[in-house]
Amino acid sequence: MSEKAGRAPGRSQAGPHPLGGSADVLVGRGAPVTPIREYPDTTWADDGPTRGVEVLLESGAVLSFPQLPFVLTESERRFLDPRWADGKAKNISLRWGDGQALGDMRGAVGEGADLAALQAMIARYAEQSEAFALRLFPHYRGHLKRGNTSFRPVDVVGRETSWRKDDTRLHIDAFPSNPMHGTRLLRVFCNVNPAGRPREWRVGEPFEAHARRYLGSIARPVPGTAWLLEKTGITKRRRTEYDHVMLQLHDRAKADATFQQGSPQARVDFAPGTTWVVFSDQVLHAAMGGQHMMEQTFYLDVADQLHPEASPRGTLERLLGRELR
Ligand SMILES: [Fe+2]
Repeated sequence: MSEKAGRAPGRSQAGPHPLGGSADVLVGRGAPVTPIREYPDTTWADDGPTRGVEVLLESGAVLSFPQLPFVLTESERRFLDPRWADGKAKNISLRWGDGQALGDMRGAVGEGADLAALQAMIARYAEQSEAFALRLFPHYRGHLKRGNTSFRPVDVVGRETSWRKDDTRLHIDAFPSNPMHGTRLLRVFCNVNPAGRPREWRVGEPFEAHARRYLGSIARPVPGTAWLLEKTGITKRRRTEYDHVMLQLHDRAKADATFQQGSPQARVDFAPGTTWVVFSDQVLHAAMGGQHMMEQTFYLDVADQLHPEASPRGTLERLLGRELR
């Protein structure tokens, strides 16, 4: 394992890393930045070397596997083309029903046989990333819930978007319509670009530093608002104070140009063939460029973490001195 960013003492000269990635501290001399930990795994299967790394993930690190490609068959390589995306959604996604029954595929256009092959490719990513996550995080076995699996054949650059949806700005993941009640968002990404293009990210300051930056200026939710949002269907369930604070952190960071440009941050390039794993509700991240990516979301209850107190909810409750339910 090696560490790429985080305690780097300012602007680094890091170029291409021997293992295929690169990280470069852009701003914030001496200030802590999200660490990128690299591992040498070359297989998704159970016999790979890395396991039991819950503490690092829960501490807010990005776990990067530069030699772990998601391998497409010769025939699947044709799907590395934006023409399979319907142009409305930002990705082609597979939903899973109860008991992980194969659900609908959304966002794709094509003929029946092609779509079935595309669906099989995306489902294989779900299976491989789940087996991998359970090896890395054995403590979560029996508790990880499979969320959507996505394939993104569309370029990050040039996607028309509002500031709130602009993922080229540093943010933690939090959604206006989908209150999480503290449930964690664990994501497994893989760059499948066939032309050598990296997935370009920025990562930002650690979660606690980020919370301290804005927490003093976030007012409590207006009484009755959560009820009204749920009643009118704007939220899928009740927005708790935890969801309110997380959404405020997401929005304030994205709306704050000074923060975007001047806060501690590092650039990370994930080369093709790299897989990386994060809690995206904890790690400040921004997607600056790239095309062709796989993404698997898992949900995990805070109580099923190895150290629930390290979660965003645990951190916010400690800083505020009260429960956020
Ligand atoms: Fe995000």
